[in-house]
Amino acid sequence: MPSPAPINRIVVADPAALADAAAKRLIARIETNPGRIAICLTGGSSPKQLYRLLASEAYSKRIPWNRVHWFIGDERFVSPADPLNNMAMARGIFLDRFAPKDHIHPILTDVATPDQSAERYERELKSFYGADDLDPARPLFDLVLMGIGPDGHTASLFPKYPAVNETKRWVVGVPQAHVDPFVPRVSLTLPTLASCREMLFELAGHEKRAILARLSTDESLPANRARSLGETVLLVDQAALGEKTA
Ligand code: 6PG
Repeated sequence: MPSPAPINRIVVADPAALADAAAKRLIARIETNPGRIAICLTGGSSPKQLYRLLASEAYSKRIPWNRVHWFIGDERFVSPADPLNNMAMARGIFLDRFAPKDHIHPILTDVATPDQSAERYERELKSFYGADDLDPARPLFDLVLMGIGPDGHTASLFPKYPAVNETKRWVVGVPQAHVDPFVPRVSLTLPTLASCREMLFELAGHEKRAILARLSTDESLPANRARSLGETVLLVDQAALGEKTA
C-alpha cells in the first residue's frame, strides 16, 4: 500500500469562509471526473454550512446531480426521523431537493444491531464499487468529508476502540459512543475512508483549539490516522488555531 502524502493544512478566516472553501474543493473534485462520482458525507455540526451552500443556486447548478452518488461516513444508530440521524440532516438541508433518490445511500438503521447495519452497508459499498477488495489504484470515493471530535475521533472511530484498528471490514458497528451523543454508531473503517482521491477535514471554532493542538503532535488519535491514499486536506479557521480574526 503506498504511504499517504502529508496533510495539506489550509487556514481560512471563519466558518463561512471554510464552508465556501470546502464547496469550491467539492466542485473542483467533481470537475476532474467526467464519469460517475462518489462523495462520502459526514455528520455532526461542522458540515451544515457547507450543505446549505450546496443547496444555494450558485453551487447547486454546478453539480451534475445525475452523475453524483452520496454516501455517509458514519451514522448514529437511530431512525431517520430522529434529529440525531446524520444522513437525514444532509437530506433535509440539500440532498432531497436535488439528488435522484437512488443516488442517496444512507446507512439504514432499521435492523436489530449496529453490526447488522454495518454488514448491509458494506454489501452496498462493495456492490457500488464492483469488487470485494479495494484497489489503491481505483479509489472508492472521489471525496470524503470528515469532522473531528473533541477526543480526536473522526467518523465514529473513537480513540482506543477496536474499530479504529479494523483492516478487513469496510464498515463496523460501534456499540457505544465515546462522546455525546451517546448512541451506538455505524462507521466506515480507516481503509475504506482512505480509498478516496481527497479526504477533506473541516475544523472550526475556538472549542476545537485543544484537539487541534493535540493533533499537531504525533499522538495516535483516529483523526491523525485517517488519511487519503490521494490528497488529505485540513481546512481550519482562525478561531480553531487560536488566532483572532481581523
Ligand atoms: C458524528 C460524526 C463525527 C463528527 C465529529 C465532529 O456522527 O458525530 O460524524 O465524527 O464529525 O464528532 O462533530 P462536530 O462537527 O459536531 O464538531
